[in-house]
This record gives sequence, C-alpha cells and structure tokens, in this order.
Amino acid sequence: MVTCHKSLAAKPFDQPPFPPDLLAGEIALVTGGGSGMGLGMARALAQSGAAIAIVGRSFDRARAGVEAIEALGGRAIAVTADVRDPAAIADAFEQAEAALGPVTILANNAGGNFPVLADAMSANAWRAVTRIAIDGTFFCSTEFARRRIAAGGAGAIVNNSAQYIWSGFPGDAHSASAKAAVAGMTAALAREWRPHRIRVNCIAAGFFPHDGSTEGNDADTRRRLGMMIPLGRVGEMQEFGWLSAFLCSSFATGITGETIVIDGAERLRRSLLTGAFEPPRERAALWGRMP
Ligand code: COA
Repeated sequence: MVTCHKSLAAKPFDQPPFPPDLLAGEIALVTGGGSGMGLGMARALAQSGAAIAIVGRSFDRARAGVEAIEALGGRAIAVTADVRDPAAIADAFEQAEAALGPVTILANNAGGNFPVLADAMSANAWRAVTRIAIDGTFFCSTEFARRRIAAGGAGAIVNNSAQYIWSGFPGDAHSASAKAAVAGMTAALAREWRPHRIRVNCIAAGFFPHDGSTEGNDADTRRRLGMMIPLGRVGEMQEFGWLSAFLCSSFATGITGETIVIDGAERLRRSLLTGAFEPPRERAALWGRMP
C-alpha cells in the first residue's frame, strides 16, 4: 500500500469530548436510529445524557438500537413509523412523549440510497429516496416544532444531509437532490422558528462506513475509500455522532441554519471517482504535464 499522507486518528467512543450530563433532561427522537448513522447519533446523544426515542420502519432494528443505548447505561424506547406518513409521525411523537416526556431534540436521519443512473431510474425509485429525505425531514420537523411552540418554545433539530450535495456523483441523482433539499430546508426552517428558540442545523457528512453502507464496511473498503480522502481516512461514527450532539447542545446556541461539513476535505476534491489524493509536496509536478 502506498501511504502518501499521514492520517489524524479519531478519539474512541469511550473518550467523548463532552461531559456526560451535557444533554441531561433532554429527550431526543432519532429517525432511522436503529442502525448506521442514526445509531451513531443516538449513541452520542445518549452518551451526553439524553433519553432517546428510536423511530424506524422496522421494530426489530429500532429495538436493536434501544439495546445499544441500554448497553451504554442510557434510556431509550423503540417506536415504529414510516417518516413519509405524517399521521404515523404524529403517533410516534405521542408514544415517545408518553414514555419519556416532551421531545426537545429531533435528529432527522432516516434515509435510503442505492446506485442507479438517472436515465435508468424509475419514478418509484426517485420517489422512494426523495420522499424519505424531503417529506420525512419536513413532516418530522413540523410535528416537532408544533409541539415545541405549544410548550413555549426551545429545541434543536439536526438533519443528516451529505457532502455530495455540491457535486453529486454518478448513480446518485436521487439522493444528491434530496439531501440538497434538506440543507435548504434547514436554513428556511431555522429562520421561521428562530422566534421560538428552535435551532435547526444540518450535517453534510462524507464517508462514514457502517454495516448498512452501500459501499460495505470491511477493512479493505475503508482503506480504499480513505485513500481518496485528503485527510487519509474515512470518518468514525462517533465523530459524526459527537458533531450531532454538539449542534443540539448549549455549546452551539449561536449556531442555526448552518450546514456543517465533516468529510476529511473530500468536498475539496474534484470528483469521487478520481484516483488517490496526492499531497502537493509529493507530486512530480504541482499541476499540468509531467516534465
Ligand atoms: N436498486 C435499484 N432500484 C431500487 C433499489 C435498488 N437497490 N431499491 C429500491 N429500488 C427501487 C424499486 O425497484 C422501486 O422501483 P420500481 O417500483 O420501479 O421497481 C422503488 O425503488 C421503490 O422500492 P421499494 O423497495 O418499494 O421502496 P421502499 O420505500 O420500501 O424502500 C429504501 C426504499 C431505499 C428505504 C429501501 O431500498 C431500503 O431499505 N434500502 C436499504 C437501506 C439503505 O438505503 N441503506 C443505505 C443507507 S446510505
């Protein structure tokens, strides 16, 4: 393996940057929180003291997330709902509030993605991905805000967008479009709900492989993806989770309407499909033809 740059290692999950009571008394509802990036958010929020309602289409997966939170010593419940169904979302909030208390943090994570070229994409495939991200984020956010406003205000939303909203990549027109809409929605809702002290922020993440990732999560895949990233490695799930918890915490009361990138500078590259990043100092020629 050619190592062309040094990597900066992530802190392990059991060495969090925040005190364990940072989010004490907060109730967080995490959509798609039973696995993958949603579980990364749920674990970090629980590690910071929040109680968690994990909402997902599959009860078994949501229940697995609850067990992961309980293994940390946290408090969590599993609720079944499809984020595309506003009535199911209202019911999920009812269940969460009955079991845990008023929901004060919302993590809009639920999403779906699969590679298909735009000209071969069926209308159903387009709608499956865009409706989960756009409708789902909007329905959950508005349900959350109505409840927070009725309760006197204050709350935080964090949305899981993606770093590829600025570039797209082949086979990802549905998700790139949908996640771009989520970033736009973040700014719009932040403006509307500022008077109610509801902050809305968004994370544009790069590669954070997990067992449900389309790319896979084996060591070779992680190494190969890491080679394409200027930082020299893929993201670790706790880094993504901690950024989510930070944005929902009192550390971030001055931040709203933002989309924060965490991608090891992947966005600064021209394309996901170019070769390994070569640091300027190690190149035979800085740019242009080789001498
Ligand atoms: N490749 C191509 N098309 C696909 C597909 C795939 N892997 N998965 C779904 N589709 C298409 C279906 O063919 C269907 O289109 P059609 O009716 O023209 O055939 C359309 O998308 C809807 O599929 P359906 O399974 O009914 O959608 P759903 O709403 O039940 O589920 C997902 C959509 C994305 C949630 C589902 O595919 C899923 O659970 N994926 C795995 C989770 C995931 O995406 N993980 C990646 C996270 S980054």
